Amino acid sequence: KAEDGYRLWLRYDKVQDAALLQRYQSALTALSFYTSSATLDIAKKELIKGISGLTGNRLRPREGVTNNCIIAGTPASSVFVKKFFQKNKLNTGNEGYVISTGNVGGKKVLFIAATKDIGVLYGVFAFLRLLQTNQPLENLFMVSAPKIQNRILDHWDNLNRTVERGYAGASIWNWHTLPDYIDQRYIDYARANASVGINGTVLTNVNANARVLTKTYLIKVKALADVFRPYGLKVYLTAKFSAPVEIGGLKTADPLDPGVRNWWKEKCDEIYSMIPDFGGFLVKANSEGQPGPQSYGRTHADGANMFADALAPHGGIVMWRAFVYDLRVQKEQERFEEGNKGGHGNPIAAEDRFKQAYNEFAPLDGKFKKNVLLQVKNGPIDFQPREPFSPLFGAMPETQLMMEFQLTQEYLGQGTHLVFEAPLFKEVLDADTYARGMGSVVAKVIDGSLYHHPLTAIAGVANIGNDINWTGHPFGQANWYAFGRLAWDHELSSARIANEWVRQTFSNNRDFVTTTTSMMLASREILVDYMTPLGLNHIMGTGHHYGPAPWVDNAGRADWNPVYYHRADSEGLGFNRTANGSNALAQYRPEVQKQWDNSRTCDEKYLLWFHHVPWNFKMHSGRSLWEALCYKYNIGCDSVKWMQREWNAVKPFIDEERFKQVQQLLVIQEKEAVWWRDACLLYFQTFSKMPVPAQYEKPQHT
Ligand code: GCU
Repeated sequence: KAEDGYRLWLRYDKVQDAALLQRYQSALTALSFYTSSATLDIAKKELIKGISGLTGNRLRPREGVTNNCIIAGTPASSVFVKKFFQKNKLNTGNEGYVISTGNVGGKKVLFIAATKDIGVLYGVFAFLRLLQTNQPLENLFMVSAPKIQNRILDHWDNLNRTVERGYAGASIWNWHTLPDYIDQRYIDYARANASVGINGTVLTNVNANARVLTKTYLIKVKALADVFRPYGLKVYLTAKFSAPVEIGGLKTADPLDPGVRNWWKEKCDEIYSMIPDFGGFLVKANSEGQPGPQSYGRTHADGANMFADALAPHGGIVMWRAFVYDLRVQKEQERFEEGNKGGHGNPIAAEDRFKQAYNEFAPLDGKFKKNVLLQVKNGPIDFQPREPFSPLFGAMPETQLMMEFQLTQEYLGQGTHLVFEAPLFKEVLDADTYARGMGSVVAKVIDGSLYHHPLTAIAGVANIGNDINWTGHPFGQANWYAFGRLAWDHELSSARIANEWVRQTFSNNRDFVTTTTSMMLASREILVDYMTPLGLNHIMGTGHHYGPAPWVDNAGRADWNPVYYHRADSEGLGFNRTANGSNALAQYRPEVQKQWDNSRTCDEKYLLWFHHVPWNFKMHSGRSLWEALCYKYNIGCDSVKWMQREWNAVKPFIDEERFKQVQQLLVIQEKEAVWWRDACLLYFQTFSKMPVPAQYEKPQHT
């Protein structure tokens, strides 16, 4: 049934374990839930629906309290909650909740309560998650609040419904039929986000179209905002820097020009008159051809602060992206083209792309206004299967930094490869910047605790489209889920998240859960092995970023060329970023440099990120670099076969449809892992001139 995928992790099928079912049935017999807002209405319906599906109990809300009664609400909506909060001195803040067993007048009750309405909705979803994952309900006292305030999905959706780097169909925003037609999917989308605590959505692509800021589109944006509001989901837009010229009829977009500043101020006034809780803007400026303040001789801070001033009176925020690598490279390119008319290939850019965001932004530390966040991608290059954390996270104490992860798998096999990204996210969040001594992990930078910043945020580039199952690959849903869960609480482990997701999405069967979660937890490392082992990166086909193309040297820009990144030659492989190379390592704190600056002691996961090592370099395993490369590519391929075997073994536990989808996708993944291995080994062999060790499968020319 197609709906198996559509329901995501919000399936409320009857609990299978008979003993447990009975316990739930007798523990959840009544409901006291007075609702006084749209949000509480939604929470109540969800709770009734969930309990009915999971236990068969149909709860009818009643006035009084009986034994085994759920009491839900806020101190304002329920006297019982009010007393409970007073007695326990509880305050769950703007979004937090408490789930607790308790006692009212000698009756056994269960509270799902919060200071604010939205907290009750989050609490309801958390409670249903307990049931969905078959947890005990005895002696509960769970208090939870998000560690990061703004937990946002970035849609890279265009107004014509194409999605940049989207692999799950067309955009779910049907601009043509908005505002009058409200697709049920918008409501289901808001509900899914609320279920994992996502509270913001940027509707449009960072490569922005100014037209979304015209009245015609703002009416449509408002319609979505109205749908999302009761689910706690705020709407944001991308702002194209040149909008005052493109749609405002001005001659300039100079951020210091009074006319321009006024145009943005009026634009914000207009937006807020329609959408009073509009979140703010996400801006990509002076990056990959997008206009920005530098086009007018101004800085990124000048640009960001202009938006900040226009938004501040309304409480809006600016998310200014740090994904830039333009200036010097472009100049080098022009110089090269000048001296090389009719020549071939591209120059090797003078400045390491790795260093550029830091070079541009670190000097601006402290220059941004209070409602600005600098949005930094997890790594210094671009969402590779593995990157060291961006050095900016340890370099801008006076600036509110937010994280940008990518859920859509642009460089991770896109819509066809099974890759659970939580381990990737965790690796970055847990990385130590040493910015204020040991323990200054990236997570503490972005949750504001390291420097006591008041405004915090995290973004995930959405992997959602209008495919029936939302994300194309059924396991893509797990990345949406994992993002939400980690944005709420970055201390959750990948294993816990995988376990929750699998139980909710498929089955609580022990064998199923064990097999599937171990497959998920291994999947990212498996992809790294067959795609970019040992610190290789950015060797995907240029433009589309699908499949191997390490040989490309004419992609249009030096730093789009795979050869720029791997630097294979007759001596060895890898990018020397140490002091006698590009010295990108100097952008990290000394303690971090020490981890990576010596090829003998550098974690081999990052080896080729920082070192150009000889083909016969001795690895910790005793293998040469070349042998290690052969080994890694092969183990990656073998591991995909392992995933296939594991998946085949769980067939009895789940529905035919999703079983088959994943099975077929794993066949593609296996073929492509082999494609990666063969292409990369054959290509790198032209430099190493070494044989592939006999125990590995020989790469095939096709
Ligand atoms: C990547 C991606 C682009 C995207 C860009 C960005 O380079 O390939 O499609 O626009 O990131 O994040 O701005």
